[in-house]
Formats: sequence, C-alpha cells, structure tokens
Amino acid sequence: MENRKVRIALTKGRIENKAVDLLEKIGYDVTDLRNKGRRLILSVPNEDIEVVLAKAADVITYVEHGVCDLGVVGKDTIMEHGGKFFEISDLGFGKCRFALAVKKGTDFYMGYGVKTVATKYPEVTRRFFEAKGMDVDIVKIEGSVELAPLVGLSDGIVDIVETGTTLKENGLEVYDTVAPISARLIVNTVSMKLKQERISEIVRLIEENCDDKNN
Ligand code: PRP
Repeated sequence: MENRKVRIALTKGRIENKAVDLLEKIGYDVTDLRNKGRRLILSVPNEDIEVVLAKAADVITYVEHGVCDLGVVGKDTIMEHGGKFFEISDLGFGKCRFALAVKKGTDFYMGYGVKTVATKYPEVTRRFFEAKGMDVDIVKIEGSVELAPLVGLSDGIVDIVETGTTLKENGLEVYDTVAPISARLIVNTVSMKLKQERISEIVRLIEENCDDKNN
C-alpha cells in the first residue's frame, strides 16, 4: 500500500456536521472542514490524516477499494449495499429508522393480494418481506418515496423515518418498523492489518468521543 496519509471518508449531508463535530472533539483541527467550499479532500493540520467527502454509497466503495482507510456512513446504506469492510462501531448519531409506512388507516398486512412497495432501498425491503414470508412487488424510487402511495403507485413504502414530519405532512403513518439506523464507523480490511497501530489509535479516539450521552 502506498505511503499516504490515513484517509477518512465522511458522508456528505445529514451526518456530515456530527462527524466533523466528533473529529473536533477528538482534538483535530477541523477549520478546513468547516470552510470547505466545494473542495472534496480536506486536510487536518498537524495530523497524518486527510478527510474525503462523498455520497454514502461511495464512502463504502472508497473504503472497500482501500483508497480510504476509514469511513463514516449510515447503517441504511450499509444494509442496502453490503460490502467487504469491517463495521467497527456505532457512532450514536444520525439516529433514525427504516419503517414500512402506509396511507393513514390502511391495514397493509390484511388481505391476500400481492402488495406493492415503493422504496429507495429494494434490498432492505426484499429481505424484510422475505423474513416475513410475504410476497410483495418492489418498485425502486430515487427520492421523495412518500409520493408513491399518494398517487397510487404502491400500497406502502419502506423508507427512512427521522422526525416523522414527512409522513405526517403527506397523510402517511408508520405501519411497521424494519430496523434502527445510526452512523457507523467502517474500516478497510487491509488497512486494519497493515496500519493496525495507527488505525486502532484513531478508532479508540473516535469511540471514546462518540458515546450516546455526548450526542
Ligand atoms: C429522507 C427520507 C424521508 C425523510 C424522513 O429523505 O427519505 O423522505 O428524509 O425525514 P423525517 O421523518 O424527519 O421527515 P431525504 O430528505 O434524505 O430526501 P429524499 O426523499 O429526496 O431522498
């Protein structure tokens, strides 16, 4: 493996600020990260570390390929994409859940016809209903999945619910919980062996500073 800085991939967006807060809490200088503009690779002064910002699924790809040693990514993306890496710790932030939601008052599990479920997460959805022994048609949607049952495309959705506001404002409600979600720390399997000492030190600092009461 080339002799480069330890590279940490952070998921852009919702969990980015919490991840940067965590790095700051450890004692890293996050000035560059807070003033990133449109830059995608940020330095951490006085440390042998650099931070990369990427979309969730790409965080996994970069870590899997070993071009990033560590990654911070939601359990939702891990569950959907899987992959070959170590999932080291639950960081305790970015908490939400995967839920099956329906139009208010609908009894999704009633009746015999095959139901249609719209989702951004077909793999998570497939496994959820497979475990229930329930046959469903899954339709992949790219965003604002809540629209699908409203316009009659599906009987329900499997999606992320955080505050529940999106469901509520669209006349939908949670019918069943699929799985809890939070941000996770992942590590490349080779980095874990070849840079064991340095990676372990960073993982220890992250774990010491990320417990639930601090978030
Ligand atoms: C997510 C999710 C819900 C919403 C849930 O969407 O898909 O739509 O957030 O949050 P709430 O329970 O706090 O209302 P996101 O904002 O990531 O955008 P998207 O639907 O376009 O993917």
